[in-house]
Amino acid sequence: MRRHRDQVRMSTPDPTDVHPAWLPDEAWRAIGVRRILVRGEGTLVDTVQAEVERATHRYGGAVWRNPTDADLPPADLVLALTGAPPPDSPPAPEPGPPQTSGTLAGTAVAAAKAQLDIATAQVGESLGAEGFVVARHAGVTVVLADAPAGLLYGLFELVRLGAAGFGPTHPVRVHRPAMARRMLDHWDNVDVHPVMGQVERGYAGGSIFWRDGRPRGDRARVTAYARLLAACGINAVSVNNVNVHATEARLLTERLDDVAELADLLRPYAIRVHLAVTFAAPVVLGGLPTADPLDPAVRDWWAETTARVYARIPDFGGYLVKADSEGQPGPFSYGRDHADGANLLAEALAPYGGVVHWRAFVYNHRQDWRDRSTDRARAAYDHFAPLDGRFRDNVIVQVKHGPMDFQTREPVSPVIAAMPGTRLAVEFQVTQEYTGQQRHVCYLAPWWSEILRFAPWGDDGRTVADVAADGGGLVAVSNVGDDRFWTGHPLAQANLYAFGRLCWNPRLGPQAVLDEWIDLTFAPDTRVDPDLLRRTLHEIMDDSWRTYERYTAPLGVGFMVRPGHHYGPDVDGYEYTPWGTYHFADRDGVGVDRTRATGTGFTGQYPPPFAERYESVETCPDELLLFFHHVPYGHLLHSGSTVIQHIYDTHFEGVREVEAMCRRWEWLARLVDPAVHARVTERLAEQLRCAREWRDQVNAYFHRKSGIPDAHGRMLH
Ligand code: GCU
Repeated sequence: MRRHRDQVRMSTPDPTDVHPAWLPDEAWRAIGVRRILVRGEGTLVDTVQAEVERATHRYGGAVWRNPTDADLPPADLVLALTGAPPPDSPPAPEPGPPQTSGTLAGTAVAAAKAQLDIATAQVGESLGAEGFVVARHAGVTVVLADAPAGLLYGLFELVRLGAAGFGPTHPVRVHRPAMARRMLDHWDNVDVHPVMGQVERGYAGGSIFWRDGRPRGDRARVTAYARLLAACGINAVSVNNVNVHATEARLLTERLDDVAELADLLRPYAIRVHLAVTFAAPVVLGGLPTADPLDPAVRDWWAETTARVYARIPDFGGYLVKADSEGQPGPFSYGRDHADGANLLAEALAPYGGVVHWRAFVYNHRQDWRDRSTDRARAAYDHFAPLDGRFRDNVIVQVKHGPMDFQTREPVSPVIAAMPGTRLAVEFQVTQEYTGQQRHVCYLAPWWSEILRFAPWGDDGRTVADVAADGGGLVAVSNVGDDRFWTGHPLAQANLYAFGRLCWNPRLGPQAVLDEWIDLTFAPDTRVDPDLLRRTLHEIMDDSWRTYERYTAPLGVGFMVRPGHHYGPDVDGYEYTPWGTYHFADRDGVGVDRTRATGTGFTGQYPPPFAERYESVETCPDELLLFFHHVPYGHLLHSGSTVIQHIYDTHFEGVREVEAMCRRWEWLARLVDPAVHARVTERLAEQLRCAREWRDQVNAYFHRKSGIPDAHGRMLH
């Protein structure tokens, strides 16, 4: 018998002091005790083999890779490419009492393949580049995939299933990702930026990729990251900030080796590297007098530069561009529009199958606050909707999920429903810039899930998830840094995990995703009281986004944060600034009139059902009322409360909920790793302090403005 245990050696992450997140050893137990047959060739199959070897080394199982049919082992788990020949011959006898025979493994694969053929004939589709099936037959679990990436994802599905993956017989279950591209954007700077630091909007220490102007060089850490991402389904990573500064611009040319090194580390986990580039690159790197997208010399420069990128990184994913936004250069300087700009880069990438992610986050950040006719919420639609149909096929217009900027509550961006002739990607923010900066517990999956299920054309129409799935997929800003818990707040890991899982299947329920994350990360069944652990984590996290919403800006009005760093309350912080983010509170009322009748007309950017629903105060949902309307404090909400009483009540309620979170977390002292417990305890103390500050500032502010007392006579300061 040929054993391949030592055939493939990978650089394994150094576990020292870095939290294993959702891939602790325990998560591999059910796999690690099996006798595993891996069939197929290629880097990703090597990865599958190395992963199962690591697990079997720990838990006593065994692994065979591509044994000849004459030499078939008695496997009880088979991970095979469908193209690989089925193991259909009898096995060589094994020493010791095998639980199953090689024949059984062969029979199980043959049965799974037969079922798969039937299923394929029924749905008329193959598994594709990333799909896989899991089946269990005659005591053998079989994972089949048409392509190596599918096998890798199938393996991680088995990790999720744990012991349940080896339970009763079941026919094939087909898994395919909803989104072809499931991407994380790192806003990591190579040089430490004087204001934004090493990671722009990063709340988890430094960058795992870069430090002080150089690659960080921690290969084990990047590999460990790649494993975690693959395990939740991410397949693309952009490795530098969308605000491309001088050093970062050079990653495209003379520092391409630094990018290639990351690509080499991410590739074994089926993750492609993308790069944020500056639109001014032909000028700042190429020495050309212009970056005009219609200038032939500029086109040649991008073509040659891109050819060099692909010569060095053949599976390079493509470019990410923030243009004509918040000071970044773009086509406007040359009298061109975003389609001209995006198509220029797309043309250079097309011969290699690359894509350009072109961000729709474009607005005037030098607005005069006195000017009531300009509405930042309108900007992306006004710039991009008229360009629909003009973008090349390999342009992906990347749209923030809301019209403003990753607030705790916003309506869905109308751009998502406005560009049927364009591939769109929807952008989320896993890093908690406006949602507590990884000092507050704020599980964001319920929010993302609401957005993904939103049907802009009405209940029977396509959803946001459908638009993304048919277009450019989902993208999010990563929340990871070199912190030992990856995300600063250990519970913020759940957001990263959930983002990947919702990309794979946007229909998954946020609580079910949290179940997966809890089971993988905390291994509750190894603890004295698994139910208490699971239940308490759900109680703390399930509704934490709404809790955060309750004690911060009310009814969708947004912001009210400290300018610059965006942490903690400052009700008027942005009110008289050029940033276009206002609430217009006065003694009589609050909110932004975005109606067609009397306001900025933003409601008219939606398809009919929502253009009407948002236009009227009668039908506008409470949680978005102040986003769309300026109303008196005494306005009655659908909830039955007045706006002012709602503000008071929710702010008291939000703080009470944080107090309850703190108490609940104390109960878990015996049930979670002491280091995790200590870190979360420390963060919860800050969350409580900050929530009280929010409550008191917001309530005092509105009490002073309105002069209306709290109906319950509570302290308003
Ligand atoms: C927000 C954030 C910036 C970031 C920008 C973007 O405005 O505060 O730091 O650069 O979004 O999405 O580009």
